Amino acid sequence: MITFKINDEEVQARPGWTVLETAREYGIEIPTLCFHPAVSSSGACRLCMVELREGSWSKLVASCIYPVAEGLQVYTDTERVRNVRRWVLEMLLAACPASPEIVQLAAKYNVIRSRFASKDPDQTCFVCGLCARVCEEVVGLSAIATVDRGIHKRVGAPFARPTDICVACGSCITICPTGAMQKIFDSVRGEPATALTQLA
Ligand code: SF4
Ligand code: FES
Repeated sequence: MITFKINDEEVQARPGWTVLETAREYGIEIPTLCFHPAVSSSGACRLCMVELREGSWSKLVASCIYPVAEGLQVYTDTERVRNVRRWVLEMLLAACPASPEIVQLAAKYNVIRSRFASKDPDQTCFVCGLCARVCEEVVGLSAIATVDRGIHKRVGAPFARPTDICVACGSCITICPTGAMQKIFDSVRGEPATALTQLA
């Protein structure tokens, strides 16, 4: 077992665990959005940031992808962590202003408005990729993918081409943390494959 400290309390973790997994094992709250235990982590949202300290030195890391190590000193609720969490929530509010889930999550941490401008008032997806990962890693189909890059990155059919491999299992809708996938499927008539085609 690997021994380290979270919020000055000694904890133990198995090799290969992340800081987030260990914190959850000990009931320590760290907010997450793009993390789901059923699929691999991407570190897309940065909401799970924690502070690592060593003497006068410290840095912020995404706890869902940071591996545990002997002697780490992790803090989950410092002023620096609260500031970056607020900043991330404001970014998410600007990116997904139409997502009730994001609005509720932000309000839970007392973030009611964003200082950042929103590009699309109807947007609910921040391209975390959870829907694509559950389809590939759990369902084994890859009917959804993240396509394009940079500001054009979005979820859609693989290679942005029509697809008919979706079996309408609903895993992408269930795992989506913002309600975006439900909205996408609600907005089109017909078979799921039609929805994915329109995503492309
Ligand atoms: S549709 Fe949902 S799960 Fe898929 S990338 Fe967008 S926010 Fe993430
Ligand atoms: S939950 Fe860790 S980066 Fe999103």
